[in-house]
Amino acid sequence: MAKFQVVDHPLVQHKLTIIRDKDTSTKDFREVTNEIAMLMAYEITRDLELEEVEIETPLVKCIQKQIAGKKMAVVPILRAGLGMVDGILKLVPAARVGHIGMYRDPETLQAVEYFAKFPQDIEERRVFVVDPMLATGVSAIAALNQLVNKYQVPESHITFCCLVAAPEGVKALQEAHPDVDIYTAALDEKLNEHGYILPGLGDAGDRIFGTK
Ligand code: URA
Repeated sequence: MAKFQVVDHPLVQHKLTIIRDKDTSTKDFREVTNEIAMLMAYEITRDLELEEVEIETPLVKCIQKQIAGKKMAVVPILRAGLGMVDGILKLVPAARVGHIGMYRDPETLQAVEYFAKFPQDIEERRVFVVDPMLATGVSAIAALNQLVNKYQVPESHITFCCLVAAPEGVKALQEAHPDVDIYTAALDEKLNEHGYILPGLGDAGDRIFGTK
């Protein structure tokens, strides 16, 4: 069974309270969102494989460790996912960045992809899909469907990382993609009738970009 983890580090929880506050400015919201993403990158990369390498310090030759194995890719779900990319790249600056854009068809209520561009070897990479809010799970599931079915990324290579999750979204995502690890900074109470997470933080995209 894949992991489901709430990152309850005090710094993450403190910063999450700042971005939940409706009076936090766009500038601060954007900065603090990236700071939380950076702290979460520390957790979501915890199981990266290490290999031994011989180096020479100023004093002696010795065997030390370095990150081995798969290269990484960060895939923000447009548009709010963009708000987490810089924070994650601070810790893994060599990661490639793919993008996937989804909108919800107002008639079918299904997620429709309007943009997708990934590194050409995405199926060989560890992929971190990021979106600040996991609400109904519709766009996350659709994005993962594309990565798994069209681009042949094994579910076990994928980690979904969000800041706030609703129980409904977590359940839907776990049912659709049981081998994808999920990390969130908070598991909130529920969705309201408009699909917003309660208590949540409002529309993450609007708050990151200062739109309405
Ligand atoms: N998307 C958001 O930006 N906020 C929510 O509360 C739910 C979905």
